[in-house]
Amino acid sequence: MNAPAIRWGVLAPGGIAHDWAAALHAATTSRVVAVGSRALERAQAFAADFGAERAHGSYESLVDDPGVDAIYVASPHSEHHAHALLALGADKPVLVEKAFTRNAIEAATVVDVARTRGLPVVEAMWTRFLPHIDVVRRCLEDRLLGEVRAVEADHGQLLYPDGPQRLADPALAGGALLDLAIYPVSFAHFALGGFTAVQATGTRAETGVDASETIAVAGPQGAIGTLSSTMLAKTPCSASISGTAARVEIPGWFYQPNTVRLLGPDDRELDRFEPPSREHGLAYEAAEFARLLAAGKTESDLLPLDETLRIMQVLDEVRRQLDVTFPGED
Ligand SMILES: NC(=O)c1ccc[n+]([C@@H]2O[C@H](COP(=O)([O-])OP(=O)(O)OC[C@H]3O[C@@H](n4cnc5c(N)ncnc54)[C@H](OP(=O)(O)O)[C@@H]3O)[C@@H](O)[C@H]2O)c1
Repeated sequence: MNAPAIRWGVLAPGGIAHDWAAALHAATTSRVVAVGSRALERAQAFAADFGAERAHGSYESLVDDPGVDAIYVASPHSEHHAHALLALGADKPVLVEKAFTRNAIEAATVVDVARTRGLPVVEAMWTRFLPHIDVVRRCLEDRLLGEVRAVEADHGQLLYPDGPQRLADPALAGGALLDLAIYPVSFAHFALGGFTAVQATGTRAETGVDASETIAVAGPQGAIGTLSSTMLAKTPCSASISGTAARVEIPGWFYQPNTVRLLGPDDRELDRFEPPSREHGLAYEAAEFARLLAAGKTESDLLPLDETLRIMQVLDEVRRQLDVTFPGED
């Protein structure tokens, strides 16, 4: 609530854009002032839902709106590259939904353009900006866990074959990896500070997208990570980081505002954090973005673009090992 207020333009008013705008309005002083859709009536309906002043019948018209301070790109993965470049081309800072792009080459193009033009860009990996992850960050920085030796995280949701068609469609860069596995991958990357090895195995859906994967990673200090994801079943969605002195555990839905337990090697609970609220978690990334703009910064220290690029390279490597490609990828 005490982050600076900015005027947002929402590009692509789909499912997450609705959740994001609701969280923004409930928990920050920033507002959605404009929205752009491929169809004017969808933009008008979204604008009416959120009291936005202007509805645009194209994304081009939205990014040219002079009354917008920043663009939130909420289209499918396949479109992020083009839509982020569209916003940057109009000199607009941009918050890009995860996965940042389809692949690392597309991501690098967006980052290069943003850096060349001096414009802020952040990957909307909302978990990274949540209070309980800040607590985990401080546990790591204060070395409460000792030497980190193991990370576990999983993310499974029953989304195929009866869920959103976007997830089943290779042309929209669907599949479990970019939608779901990116959470465990990003969490482990944060916990270990990077990976020195990535080994994946998985299954594919009938449409050719990946349906499930388990990803074993090694960290620079000899730690291991065991990550898994599926769109074929709901799984516990928990996460933990274990060190020589203690471990942190985040119970189910680790990527949402949640509890953090600090446990000793004897399993005794040493401390516990409860989030101030379990609602409106998407507002934290928007607040971070507003703070960047106000401070004249172009990248978030909590998720720098170089880390976004490294995470995209990991996702590319997993897809290479699973032999999953998207049409139109070079
Ligand atoms: N942070 C989170 O918790 C979270 C949760 C779910 C999804 N996401 C991410 O948010 C993004 C969008 O997911 P979503 O579930 O909101 O998708 P969605 O409901 O399908 O909405 C995507 C919107 O993109 C627009 N669009 C532009 N080009 C399109 C194309 N070629 N095909 C289909 N739609 C197109 C459409 O709006 P118009 O046609 O009206 O312009 C559509 O409503 C993805 O990157 C996903 O990973 C994040």
